[in-house]
Amino acid sequence: MTDNKSIITSLSQVLPDIPVAEIAAKLESPKSSDLGDVAFPTFTLAKLLRQAPQQIASDIVNRIDQSDFEKVVATGPYVNFFLDKKMTSQATLKTILTQGAAFGDNNDGDGANVTIDMSSPNIAKPMSMGHLRSTVIGNALANITAKNGYHPIKINHLGDWGTQFGKLIYAYKTWGTEAEVKADPIATLLRYYVEFHEKAKIDDSLNDAGRAWFKKLEDGDEEAHQLWTWFRAESLKEFTEIYDRLEISFDSFNGEAFYNDKMDKVVDMLAEKSLLVESQGAQIVDLSDINPNLTPAMIKRTDGATLYMTRDLAAAVYRKETYNFAKSLYVVGGEQREHFVQMKAVLSLMGFDWADDVEHIAFGLITFNGKKMSTRKGDVVLLKDVLNDAHDLALKQIQEKNPDLADKATVAEQVGAGAVVFHDLMNDRTNNFDFNLEEVVRFEGDTGPYVQYTNARAKSILRKANTAVSVDELNLDDTATWDIITTLNQFPTIVQRAWQQREASIIAKYALSLSRAFNKYYANSKILLPDDQLNARLALVKAVTIILSESLRLLGVKAPEEM
Ligand code: ARG
Repeated sequence: MTDNKSIITSLSQVLPDIPVAEIAAKLESPKSSDLGDVAFPTFTLAKLLRQAPQQIASDIVNRIDQSDFEKVVATGPYVNFFLDKKMTSQATLKTILTQGAAFGDNNDGDGANVTIDMSSPNIAKPMSMGHLRSTVIGNALANITAKNGYHPIKINHLGDWGTQFGKLIYAYKTWGTEAEVKADPIATLLRYYVEFHEKAKIDDSLNDAGRAWFKKLEDGDEEAHQLWTWFRAESLKEFTEIYDRLEISFDSFNGEAFYNDKMDKVVDMLAEKSLLVESQGAQIVDLSDINPNLTPAMIKRTDGATLYMTRDLAAAVYRKETYNFAKSLYVVGGEQREHFVQMKAVLSLMGFDWADDVEHIAFGLITFNGKKMSTRKGDVVLLKDVLNDAHDLALKQIQEKNPDLADKATVAEQVGAGAVVFHDLMNDRTNNFDFNLEEVVRFEGDTGPYVQYTNARAKSILRKANTAVSVDELNLDDTATWDIITTLNQFPTIVQRAWQQREASIIAKYALSLSRAFNKYYANSKILLPDDQLNARLALVKAVTIILSESLRLLGVKAPEEM
């Protein structure tokens, strides 16, 4: 940030013993904007300088070079900087207009790999709202990661292995038909799975039969493998429809089955390190040394079959070996918290110091009009339906607001899908929330369409002006534009904070506040008035569209030109 740089420079001239990075880290926003634009608190210097914070603040103000600022004042233990409006707006707008979408890029990651385990639905089941959350949070984090100079690797750890596929094969072979599955694959497979559970409640021998089929599958039985391959392909086809609609891609679809031949290695390592113990016929790793409240990690069942945990351990090791990640993120619902605590505990018992780089990026539960969903009972809301309904609602509003718009269907898709994605990202990820489509697709209020609409409105002003914007003479100095300038200026810090906290919501909330600031300005000013600040105002509008579009891109939301 151009002006923070001058604040840091002037502060370090008067505080030569404090490292520059430390000064930079201390800068904050004053509690209210009439106190100043940037505040430097002096509390933590009291010990070092053996002076009261108030005294330190007023000394700094007396000695500091004020020429770059409107004024610098001491308010209690704070040094408050009032930026020079003209200089700041000139510098901010010029930087944004020349850098474009690259504004806010940094190289903190220095190209290091970050693996992101995301989406990861279970095959033969419809993708749930939880998987949608994982998909969109993971995708936004990947974009944010890249903007901070890392190299993201998006991995879809498909749930394509486990006893449930033995059960499904049994069900299909016993009461299913090829024609039924072909007609409507996932719905039919889900129905078989639900029926299996109902029948197994009455007759427990079904569970044994299901387990036996999974054992066959693990051992490479041809018939089992063929059915599994077919179920998997059909499922992927349906998942891909959703991914295509959201324009989300993956670098790898290596799911649980991929680790079938990679688990022995991990189990052997555990045995070598004497971490594997037998408990009632099963193989477990005791974790009580790490944390007395942790239940043991189950590595092999009594019948020798592997588990979700076994595959995740193999995957963690494989990812380290393949990608040498700096961070390994798992975007998975909060209900799996214990699983990831156990996984990290096992990895550190195995002596992998990179276990500390493994992070569970947990998120809260979505309820639908107050109701939780369960695939086992078959009461699911299909994502396809959610996206279709969002599309229709968006279209209805576009028809009312802008009946002459060309290609309404495309815009409705961008707005409908964008609304669902934005809503998912705007809450702190660990919050639970209820999903109500009417709320989500509104054009006013804290919604994606509101941000998209603001951006489209700014673009239409530029079209109307129909003139090239020059990057000179950008010195706006009125209070009406100042709020927008300072908000634009925060963007690079927002980008860093979103990554540091692994919170896409920081970007979404920022986009909302920039939109609010711009709409307030738009409502109260004559932007296109042909006076000598016209170019500067158009530059401001252009900078707003650049940053709003870039914020939306980071979130994985489209920015229509018109709507
Ligand atoms: N398939 C799992 C589920 O739907 C999520 C997998 C998450 N990733 C992982 N590496 N465990 O619950």
